[in-house]
Amino acid sequence: MKKQSIFLILILLALFLNGCKYDFILPVETPPVDNGGQPISFATQIVPIFTEKCNSCHNSQAPMLTANVAYAQVVPAYVSTATPSGSKLYVNSASGSHYAKVSATQAALILQWITEGAKNN
Ligand code: HEC
Repeated sequence: MKKQSIFLILILLALFLNGCKYDFILPVETPPVDNGGQPISFATQIVPIFTEKCNSCHNSQAPMLTANVAYAQVVPAYVSTATPSGSKLYVNSASGSHYAKVSATQAALILQWITEGAKNN
C-alpha cells in the first residue's frame, strides 16, 4: 500500500511537471536571401515573379507589371523604401490579401529588393 502511494505520487508529479512545459511560439519569418553578395536584380529576379503570379491580370490591368513598364508603374507609387514591408507591392504579393500570393522565397526577394532601394537594375 505504501509503495503504491509513492508510485502514485511519482506519476502525479511527472504529469504536473510535464504540464508546465512551455511551448515557444516563434514569429513567422521570411527565409534569408542568399544572393551571393549581389544586389537583387529587378529585371531578372523580380519581374519574373510578376510574370508568373500577376500577369494574368496585370498585363491589361493597371499597374502594368510587364517587363517594359513595371518599374515606371510600381516605383514610387506602390513601393516605400522607408518602410519596405509596408509597400503596397509587397503586401499585395506576400499577404494573400490580394488576388495572388507569391511563395515565401519570392516574398523575401521582393522585400530584399525594396530594402536595397528598389533600383531599376
Ligand atoms: C485576379 C487578378 C489579379 C491578380 C492575379 C493580381 N492582381 Fe493586382 N490588382 C487587380 C485589380 C483588379 C486591381 C485594382 C483594384 C484593386 O486594387 O483591387 C489590382 C491592383 C493592384 C495594385 C494597386 C493597388 C492600389 O492600391 O492601387 C497593386 C500594387 C497590385 N495589384 C499588385 C499585384 C501583384 C504584385 C500581383 C501578383 C503577386 C497582383 N497584383 C496580382 C487584379 C489582380
